[in-house]
Amino acid sequence: MSIADLRVEYKRGELDEDHAAADPFDQFSRWWEEANAAQVREANAMTLATADAGGAPSARTVLLKGFDRDGFVFYTNYQSRKGAQLAANPRAALLFFWPELERQIRIDGDVARVSDQESDEYFRSRPLGSRIGAWASPQSQEITGKAWLIARVAEMALRHATAPNRPPHWGGYRVAPRAIEFWQGRPSRLHDRLLYTKTSGAWVRVRLAP
Ligand SMILES: Cc1cc2nc3c(=O)[nH]c(=O)nc-3n(C[C@H](O)[C@H](O)[C@H](O)COP(=O)(O)O)c2cc1C
Repeated sequence: MSIADLRVEYKRGELDEDHAAADPFDQFSRWWEEANAAQVREANAMTLATADAGGAPSARTVLLKGFDRDGFVFYTNYQSRKGAQLAANPRAALLFFWPELERQIRIDGDVARVSDQESDEYFRSRPLGSRIGAWASPQSQEITGKAWLIARVAEMALRHATAPNRPPHWGGYRVAPRAIEFWQGRPSRLHDRLLYTKTSGAWVRVRLAP
């Protein structure tokens, strides 16, 4: 079958104003729980889009590690490509696509580092191999080959033994949303889209055409 002929008819759900939460964080919590109940694989994997100072965009997947009314948190290397972009331009977009539920969530917002204490706490909860990896990998930089990385992991494992502290170049970011859109696939491409935007401190909800 050709790519152009690939299409899925969406019919699993519906999103209407009478049932959607008035508050987007409540709505996100509901959909998050439903994604878990539906056993969506890696439901916390989200596309993170950033842009450099010139506006050139780039996107990659990261894992959501927590959310509350302050925003959506992920962890990474502050010196990575995304880290450099966020230093120059602290805005980002997040995207979840949950095919099992025919749902998409888009989040646009302002990005700030989480506190050192919050990053320390999360770092301590990671498996030892991941903690050593955070020391070993100069994320997004060119390296000479895999052998270099393996040697560097061995060196860092020796240096940090079983209790590595969090590297200063590694930690969390929080995306504080300005807008959150919930998309539910519907038959004949007449999808439901509810967009929540923060206007003078309050969340306003509108419906968008599909
Ligand atoms: C499912 C999945 C989850 C990922 N989670 C993370 C993550 O939480 N943090 C991270 O730094 N990179 C994560 N990555 C790797 C990133 O997609 C990316 O390769 C890396 O962060 C470097 O991106 P950058 O060069 O744009 O900074 C993940 C990749 C996949 C496919």
